[in-house]
Amino acid sequence: MSLAISFDEEQRIFTLSTKHATYQMQVEEHGILLHLYYGKTIANTPLSYLLEKTSVSFSGQPYDVGDDQNISLDILPQEYPTFGSGDFRESCFSVIGTKGETGADLRYVSHEILNTKPKLSSMPALYGENVPTLVITMRDTFLSLDVLLYYSVFEENDTIARSVVIKNTGADTLHVNRALSACLDFVDGSFDLVYFPGSWGTERKVERLSVNHAKIRLDSFRGTSSHQMNPFAILCEKNTTEEQGMAYGVSLIYSGNFLIEAQADQIDGTRLVMGIHPEGFCYELSGGEELITPEVVLSFSDKGFSKLSHNYHNLYKEHLVRSAWRDKRRPILINSWEAAYFDFNGEKLLKIAKEASELGIEMLVMDDGWFGTRDDDTSGLGDWVVNEKKLGMSLHELSSKVNDLGMKFGIWIEPEMINEDSDLFRAHKDFCLRAGDRPYVRARNQLVLDMSRADVRDYLYQSLSLVLKSAHIEYVKWDMNRSLCDVWSNDLPPNRQGEVYHRYVLGVYNLLDRLTTTFPDILFEGCSGGGGRFDPGMLYYFQQIWCSDNTDALARIKIQYGTSFCYPPNTMGAHVSICPNHQTGRTTPMAMRAIVAMTGTFGYELDPSLLTDEEKEEIKKQIAMVKQYHPLLSNGDYYRLTNPFANERYAAWEFASPQKDKALLCFVLLRAEANPSVIYLKCRGLDENAVYQINGEGAFGGDALMNAGVRVPILRNDYQSFIFSIEKIEDIQA
Ligand code: DGJ
Repeated sequence: MSLAISFDEEQRIFTLSTKHATYQMQVEEHGILLHLYYGKTIANTPLSYLLEKTSVSFSGQPYDVGDDQNISLDILPQEYPTFGSGDFRESCFSVIGTKGETGADLRYVSHEILNTKPKLSSMPALYGENVPTLVITMRDTFLSLDVLLYYSVFEENDTIARSVVIKNTGADTLHVNRALSACLDFVDGSFDLVYFPGSWGTERKVERLSVNHAKIRLDSFRGTSSHQMNPFAILCEKNTTEEQGMAYGVSLIYSGNFLIEAQADQIDGTRLVMGIHPEGFCYELSGGEELITPEVVLSFSDKGFSKLSHNYHNLYKEHLVRSAWRDKRRPILINSWEAAYFDFNGEKLLKIAKEASELGIEMLVMDDGWFGTRDDDTSGLGDWVVNEKKLGMSLHELSSKVNDLGMKFGIWIEPEMINEDSDLFRAHKDFCLRAGDRPYVRARNQLVLDMSRADVRDYLYQSLSLVLKSAHIEYVKWDMNRSLCDVWSNDLPPNRQGEVYHRYVLGVYNLLDRLTTTFPDILFEGCSGGGGRFDPGMLYYFQQIWCSDNTDALARIKIQYGTSFCYPPNTMGAHVSICPNHQTGRTTPMAMRAIVAMTGTFGYELDPSLLTDEEKEEIKKQIAMVKQYHPLLSNGDYYRLTNPFANERYAAWEFASPQKDKALLCFVLLRAEANPSVIYLKCRGLDENAVYQINGEGAFGGDALMNAGVRVPILRNDYQSFIFSIEKIEDIQA
């Protein structure tokens, strides 16, 4: 039996313990599952004393409580609050019975402690050996409904993963119209909420709000996790910074509509709920059927955001990403998009590949425009057949010629979409999402395929498999370029249309599962108009995701900064592109562009024939550097040393090896000043009792580098950049 989960039979208290945190809940005498505590480790004290059972005017009592006015669901902190049972805060669960009655009342029935974490059927989830899992069964006896609450404890990562299974155990059909995955109820608290909004080209900005009595709603109902809000947030103390203070992360392993809502209640407790967005959601459960909610990953840090990010980075690297490429250095690629857009043929691509190979670039990726009839974005999507006429050769010939240059070859696909001008649409108009007979909404001239349909998925699986087998393809970029509208499926009856958003996501996962299983060695990169679907659900299938279509290095500093709060740097697709930059028109030095792209997967997105000889020489050096520093860039602990949203003068970040023997300090001057003050960068993650060299010179104590800092030479021009390579030369003997 694991020590991470314990149950005190007498007081009916569950305690979940991670390395630095305690999570406690209690089954009270009527079977209500109360939340007692989540925070820094408390070793031996039952925390039920924290609860103040009291009566509050206008708060009701469950029927079986009788006249004890002190037990009200309106104010007690709960684990899985329901709508309609006297709790007027944001709830997690609601169901419509056969007579149209809405609400639920869940009470504890039993529990089980498992030594391993069961798989979440048909959905991505954390995995791991010997991960203890608590399963608590709650029941609504009136409706014959069981709700199983799962808590899996990843001790080392200070993480608890929660999901819910809803089972209709009776014969009548029920409609679940709210099924969130988790609630965090704090008896007190004066919290801030940090969240990550954005738009195309400005993904994952960082904002912070005080949690008061007005509800803060972070959400997406675009059908995907979206550019506009990421399914990740941090609840923290007012004084929490990178280095200190409590921080609670909530991250949803899901790629569709989501909701995070936080609010202080009438007696100043704080509630946060998270899960699938209830808007547009209504799931029919016939007798014997079940619904599984996506997993919420809760993580705790008592040492600020930096430690919280390390928890998520390590967890997602080790227990979420699964591909064969997970621990390998990814080939340095050149992507054709910004080099040629739709205007290419095989010869042009081979020219790009030849020049790129001479610089040391290792893979050519042929982006949009190679299939069906597609010379712009008005046609072709859905027709996954190589356009040999345009290429002037077969895919096999092209990939072989690229391979002959010593390079790997990859392609772009956008499986979930269809153009009206395509053979697929002409043959199967019913394959797309469409609100009955209503005219549909176009976006980027395309419609969305109904991924909830098995026949649509089968068509995609077969046509894409043929393409992937027809040539030596070692990389696939899976794009998705619009939000969902007209979310109605031809395949489902009217009473099941509330399932389409969720079934769409399950359908995407199903196709991903089939393709990644059939082609386990292909390196898949996710994409959605840049970073419009940068979420843990996608990371389960893709080991990297194109972070943004905005390749301007200055803008990327902010985008990658925000993304790094939850996601490991080695999952962020990042490329060096040509200047003036195609999105912003800005010109930045090649060296700065490379430092910024090195923080992610690193590649190029340009036409090499436009480079000067000097730039070509620089690229060769950059590639050597990326290879040399790969272990640090991929496995080092990532530290945000400055906040680019606050510090307009310079940006700095660092990778430090877990063994504390090596670090890379990256610096970019954002705005040069006259008569500038000296900048000192305070390192993180070094050993105070060791001596280090910087770029092979000098002798600096780890304590000096961390507390006094590295002195940055005075720089005169905007966008000058430095990499300081820090290496330990000896330990200081006590
Ligand atoms: C959007 C992507 O983010 C770009 O990188 C590119 O692949 C285009 N789509 C192609 O249409």
